[in-house]
Amino acid sequence: MRTLPNSKTCEVYCVSRHGNSCCSAAQGEGELKEPTQSLSPPTKPVDQADQVVVGAPGRSSWRRWMLGLLPFFPLTAIIALTLHYLTSPPSSVFFLGGSVEFPNLSFSSELTDSTSPQFRLQAQALNHYFSELYDSYPWSSYHLCSGITAFSEGAKGLNVFYWSKFSAPDNVAMAMRRSSPDRLRRRLHGSNKVQRDSCNEQRYYMEQDDSMLHLLGLDPDDFESEEKSDKIKNPNNIQSGKWQLGFQAMSFDLYAKYGNNRTLSLVSPKKPYYQWRLRVPSGHVVRLVILTLHGATPGSCTSHKLSAYDFLLPLQNKIIARWCGLPVSGSSPVMKLTSSGNVMLVTFSFSRQRDGAIFKAYFQAIPKAVCGGSVSSWNGSISSPYYPSYYPPNIDCTWTVQAPMPGYLISMTIMTIDIQDSPSSDGCEKDWLDIGGAKLCNPVSDSSKKRVYSSPLSLHFHSDESLTHKGFYLLYRAFSPEGTCPRQFRCGDGHCIPLRKVCDGIKDCSDGRDEAKCASCRPGEVLCGNGQCKPQSSQCVSQSSCDDSGEEGTCAGKCYHVCPNKVCLPKSSVCDGVTDCKDRSDELNCTRAYLKGCSLSSYKCANGKCVSKVNPECDGIKDCFDGSDELRCGCGTRPRKRTKIVGGSDAGAGSWPWQVSLQMDHYGHVCGATLVSNRWLISAAHCFQDTDTIKYSDARAWRAYMGMRVMTTGNNGAAIRPVRRILVHPQYDQFTSDYDIALLELSTPMFFNDLVQPVCIPASSHSFATGTTCYVTGWGVLMEDGELATRLQEASVKIINRSTCNKLYDDAVTPRMLCAGNMQGGVDACQGDSGGPLVCLEHGRKWFLAGIVSWGEGCARQNRPGVYTQVVKFTDWIHQQTKGQV
Ligand code: ARG
Repeated sequence: MRTLPNSKTCEVYCVSRHGNSCCSAAQGEGELKEPTQSLSPPTKPVDQADQVVVGAPGRSSWRRWMLGLLPFFPLTAIIALTLHYLTSPPSSVFFLGGSVEFPNLSFSSELTDSTSPQFRLQAQALNHYFSELYDSYPWSSYHLCSGITAFSEGAKGLNVFYWSKFSAPDNVAMAMRRSSPDRLRRRLHGSNKVQRDSCNEQRYYMEQDDSMLHLLGLDPDDFESEEKSDKIKNPNNIQSGKWQLGFQAMSFDLYAKYGNNRTLSLVSPKKPYYQWRLRVPSGHVVRLVILTLHGATPGSCTSHKLSAYDFLLPLQNKIIARWCGLPVSGSSPVMKLTSSGNVMLVTFSFSRQRDGAIFKAYFQAIPKAVCGGSVSSWNGSISSPYYPSYYPPNIDCTWTVQAPMPGYLISMTIMTIDIQDSPSSDGCEKDWLDIGGAKLCNPVSDSSKKRVYSSPLSLHFHSDESLTHKGFYLLYRAFSPEGTCPRQFRCGDGHCIPLRKVCDGIKDCSDGRDEAKCASCRPGEVLCGNGQCKPQSSQCVSQSSCDDSGEEGTCAGKCYHVCPNKVCLPKSSVCDGVTDCKDRSDELNCTRAYLKGCSLSSYKCANGKCVSKVNPECDGIKDCFDGSDELRCGCGTRPRKRTKIVGGSDAGAGSWPWQVSLQMDHYGHVCGATLVSNRWLISAAHCFQDTDTIKYSDARAWRAYMGMRVMTTGNNGAAIRPVRRILVHPQYDQFTSDYDIALLELSTPMFFNDLVQPVCIPASSHSFATGTTCYVTGWGVLMEDGELATRLQEASVKIINRSTCNKLYDDAVTPRMLCAGNMQGGVDACQGDSGGPLVCLEHGRKWFLAGIVSWGEGCARQNRPGVYTQVVKFTDWIHQQTKGQV
């Protein structure tokens, strides 16, 4: 059996060219363009001066020593030795490469230069550590020696990079190789203080690679055991080829302070191996920008390769990127890479000599990025660290993206994704991006680039310790499930265009749909809101010729009553039982009710007769002969009332006893609603539109909170009811928000009390006149992009004429909508108030539901009032659906 020397403590430092066989002598020359501002001598051949070797005498020196003694051995000894060699199992020489940090030692710039006395002294001082390094290692007997190759600035002290040479039977070598990096990384407590305090230790098996030994300044012969030679097995081995020229590598040590760019360039190289050891201050990472890379043989890694490592030793598992045969150059950088720590090793090896600039790059120190975090915004982007530079190895980032408002979804668009080496189907094991629980690492098809997630959304990016790529760039947007073209016109192909572009004479939709149904009037005619053309002369007469009073004009002279559309009325037309103004203002505030023929605008009593009085219901005066106008009036009162909504104020307890908060498990408050009977709520249809991820239409997902003022966790005194069913208006149009109304039936009836009361539903003839002050209430956000209110907010808003509102909103206000607000802005409902009530106090001191919070451009903006669903348009539908329970 073959044995190794017992002693592993080598007293001799391998600092001369002809010492310990752990580092062999080699010489060579290369012509390099000098790197700028190098801290250490810019060029030097890699040789044993690059390192201090400690440890046991190597096997080849031991062999030489044995051979030296040979003449004195008796013949039997020679025979025994020969037999020993013949019978011992095959063995090989291999290396581990590692790094360790000593917090109580400090880094200085002289330590980057391995020829400096400081380097040598520091290395010698650490001899003790390395001689004990493998003492409790299961394979310690195979350790020959170790060498320190470089120092760098550690997070706490001094980082030392070293290699350790082993000679062991092949099976042991295999076992060591297979043992995971974690096992090798195991912290072995030493006996002395320096060793005990060492930290961040990592050690890896060094894969046999042509360049590895050359770059470590070691004799490639050392890699071969006597029994088998790679030279024979591999005729292309670098040693057997054209480069058998003795010493073949050049090494540069470069340091860049923050703000400096240091250049790396290779012109007319004379050697096959080059390396640049790049360092930046602690707390920074190295960014390498490759500007040119010439002379490539496409697709081949044999002729030359450029590698970047996330370590100061050429370890296979620390390769950040490698290029072979890339015919690249140009004005823009070819590649930008980032390290995970404050060092990077760049190596270049090639087999054929070439003239001209082969490689040009620079590097810089950039602050170490903190990745991940929580964002809550309407839109934004998320990218891999340092994008579009290559992301660093060994990094984990977690992001949480939250829509600023409950009920909103997140649409994520994958703009670029480059994470995995080559597309593979077998999962994402190395680097991956997890979006909402699904791992991505391969390119994605165009159709799956856009995805919708519920809020909050978690993303996690992981990169392992080697091979990095460009990474990813994502754009996200929070959107309301209301529709894909909210408040815009939707073309046939799904594109959204602003409403003002509809009927402007220019086809904006590819299918021309925006100009398809546009009326045009002849000169001298005006276009009424209903699309009909009427002669201009019809202005300022007692009856507007536009049925919808859509025409505008200025009326000179005195009028007894002026309708909001400037139509003048004589005294005889006011309170005559005939409605002349579109808003019925000429028949409001009349004391007498006329029985009259029924029209759409007249109140119809239960007996089928109609009264001319505007809003006769529940006003305390019996107007119908059958008294039906004063029946069902147990609504709209605030028994408890003794006394944001944006620009609003806190509501007193019991002020708005019909206000309901609609909540969902996990999401909390989503929408408002109004209690209209002991079983029924009214809300907005847009609150119940399903998305890919959330089934808002599922009644079981909702809980109705009543009698509540302060929204906190827990029920806080509220009466909570599950929802039995949700009836969304069948004509609800998510693109225009038309018919934005829904009825919710409670699972069990409510009992009314001081804090819980129903509001009155207006008769379909009920008129809420322009200029009337009404109130909107809710827990919606207090300002655009703000937070939900914890206390119920109330705001007083004025009813705005619909045609005025339509001008402000490019005709997006349909006859089923009602505008209310303040033209100056400052007061409005906002996100989270949706579905909630707009109520007005009527003559009988009862509150009526005039509107349902539906939409608006932004919130509380000037000339952008809130738009509500006009409840009177749905009175009949409500009675039908609730079978008269409301
Ligand atoms: N759609 C919004 C919601 O879901 C309500 C918007 C009201 N906007 C306004 N400016 N009044 O809560």
